[in-house]
Amino acid sequence: MNPSTDFVPEFDGAPLVWCDQVNHHFGSGENRKQVLYDVRLRVWPGELVIMTGPSGSGKTTLLTLIGGLRSAQDGRMTVLSRQMTGLSRNELVAVRRGIGFIFQAHNLFESLTALQNVCLPLDLLEIPKEEKVRRASEILDRLGMGHRLQYKPEALSGGQRQRVAIARALVAKPKLILADEPTAALDKERSRDVVDLLQELAHKDGCSILLVTHDNRILDVASRIVNMVDGRVATDIDVQNSMATCEFLSRVDVLSKLPPATLAELSQKMMEERFPAGSWIIRQGNEGDKLYLMKSGSAEVVKEELGKMQTLRQLTPGDVFGEISLITNRPRTASVRAVNDIHCLSLTKEDFDKAMDTSQSFKDRLLQVFFSRRFQGGIDIPLR
Ligand SMILES: Nc1ncnc2c1ncn2[C@@H]1O[C@H](COP(=O)(O)OP(=O)(O)OP(=O)(O)O)[C@@H](O)[C@H]1O
Ligand SMILES: [Mg+2]
Repeated sequence: MNPSTDFVPEFDGAPLVWCDQVNHHFGSGENRKQVLYDVRLRVWPGELVIMTGPSGSGKTTLLTLIGGLRSAQDGRMTVLSRQMTGLSRNELVAVRRGIGFIFQAHNLFESLTALQNVCLPLDLLEIPKEEKVRRASEILDRLGMGHRLQYKPEALSGGQRQRVAIARALVAKPKLILADEPTAALDKERSRDVVDLLQELAHKDGCSILLVTHDNRILDVASRIVNMVDGRVATDIDVQNSMATCEFLSRVDVLSKLPPATLAELSQKMMEERFPAGSWIIRQGNEGDKLYLMKSGSAEVVKEELGKMQTLRQLTPGDVFGEISLITNRPRTASVRAVNDIHCLSLTKEDFDKAMDTSQSFKDRLLQVFFSRRFQGGIDIPLR
């Protein structure tokens, strides 16, 4: 075990799930097999994080560790402000109480009706019985089960049982919801009901949701998409930000014909950079090492000729600049100076070149750029 003592992610709005360098093994001796490697993951309040990845990549294992359904072995993990490494059985049970689980095994009480099953989590709350029944009926109705309130699980189909289990997991509006393939047994319409409800809980009630799925029909509700491969977090994409970045990049002439997959890859490789007012982002004559996308602030393009400085144009949010010398391998032809504090995303020449190699259409496009008039103008600033 490696619980860290200096690790206290407790601040206002801290992530409800905080994993760092989490490793996990199954078996012992010769059969000991590592299934999670250095997993780093945050789930912030109000986020709906979709986790996907090939079968056997460790998604369920990670979910069960976060949910306290098995003991964390190695690394740092905090869930609902509690360190998860080294917890006793009772302490794990206490963590589980704060979590809504939607797992494949429904574990409904066979002797209770659908309505009674869903009322169970509300028993922990001090509210009148009528209120419990009202809330349980409402959520069952929302999931298309309003006509089956008095049915026992044995009289329900697999998909109906799953919806009762989902209603039970969500009825008390837990702060954290862990869902493993919640829509697997449901048709398109019912899947939509479930994810809409989850999204509403995230947006309206600030619940955090970590949802494992292979179902690409529901990706649109994600705030982030985390892709697991071979026990590692391969990508962790902030959907809104990445889409906005791809959108900006696709508006740049030279990048506009790149396939979405390459644009998405580029957007993932971009680094946040900040420049204070008055500082130089690009210097004329220097080697081109990066291109930039301006997120906020403004800058000016300045060219020095015959000892005179001339301002060529202003750059504002959404502008991409600095790409030409990456294409030509020639020094910067102008400078860029921050007018006020600037927030940029930058992409290195190495990553830019890799993207160039991946796309024939991109190469064609570049060839056109090489011969375009705008390019002959020689300003190392936006092509658009
Ligand atoms: N209890 C266990 N004992 C030993 N190995 C296990 C155990 N549970 C899972 N594994 C192994 O750990 C690896 C990850 O399994 P896990 O169930 O986390 O994958 P998953 O990403 O959820 O896959 P799927 O998409 O098929 O549900 C697999 O190689 C699996 O065989
Ligand atoms: Mg699984």
